[in-house]
Amino acid sequence: MPQDRYAVFGHPINHSKSPRIHALFAQQTGQAIHYTSQDVPAENFREELKRFAAEGGRGLSCTVPLKELAWGIADRKSVRADRAKAVNTLVLGKDGRLFGDNTDGAGLLRDLTVNLGLTVTGLNILLLGAGGASRGILEPLLAMKPRRLIIANRTVAKAEKLAIEFADLGSIEALPFKALASESFDLILNATAASLSGDLPPLPEGILAAGGACYDLAYGNQPTAFVRWGGSMGAKLSVDGIGMLVEQAAEAFFIWRGMRPQTRPVIELLNAERSQAK
Ligand code: ATR
Repeated sequence: MPQDRYAVFGHPINHSKSPRIHALFAQQTGQAIHYTSQDVPAENFREELKRFAAEGGRGLSCTVPLKELAWGIADRKSVRADRAKAVNTLVLGKDGRLFGDNTDGAGLLRDLTVNLGLTVTGLNILLLGAGGASRGILEPLLAMKPRRLIIANRTVAKAEKLAIEFADLGSIEALPFKALASESFDLILNATAASLSGDLPPLPEGILAAGGACYDLAYGNQPTAFVRWGGSMGAKLSVDGIGMLVEQAAEAFFIWRGMRPQTRPVIELLNAERSQAK
């Protein structure tokens, strides 16, 4: 059977779990797709995209550092991609036109609410980081009507800019890390790149409310420094972003193939493989 081609582009890309996830989705749904990963630094993005399209590629996942570039390149974009100013899913049209969407926020919210059983509505939420990862999740987070959403970032001006840009969607404020000591949060989301280098943002002790939860948008085979911090602060739940990764992929699969794979068995399998890799 001929297979439709898909790929993830990014840099670095060698540890990407996306090809495995999409292969599992394809198997589960009986879709004839072939999904690969390709190391593409920002400066090669346009050229590699053109080549992939010429070879008959149907869709592309874009990851760090290409999401903002993909947003700039797409001919048409979803409302949520425009709000995020970032695209993680491209549809390569037969007419050569590119449609850009962003499934990161939907993926996070689905993992938080459906898989982990958290109710975001009414919570005091702390979002760490003011880069592309934060930008991608702010709209769906605010749509759940948290009581308060605070963005803390090393460079405070960036958090302030995001707070202003998203102020029309709900209660959102920016604070420097050192101003957090007097606050208490039910849910702390780490969207900084600190985890990737094994670092932890400078978090005061005691800011996690009793029964609070911690969620790292990053993931790895070992618990991240932030996931461990959450555990040491007595979080009822302190997890990394493997569930978000699978959920955003499922949403992309739906955009490309018009069917929604079951995510739970895929998350369970990836978790089992990770615990064996330890
Ligand atoms: P991404 O697209 O992954 O969000 P980014 O736009 O480079 O990447 O943003 C990275 C985020 O992680 C930023 O909020 C950055 O803080 P600054 O804006 O002050 O640079 C944050 N970050 C990176 N390393 C960090 C560290 N070691 N401690 C705290 N924050 C860190």
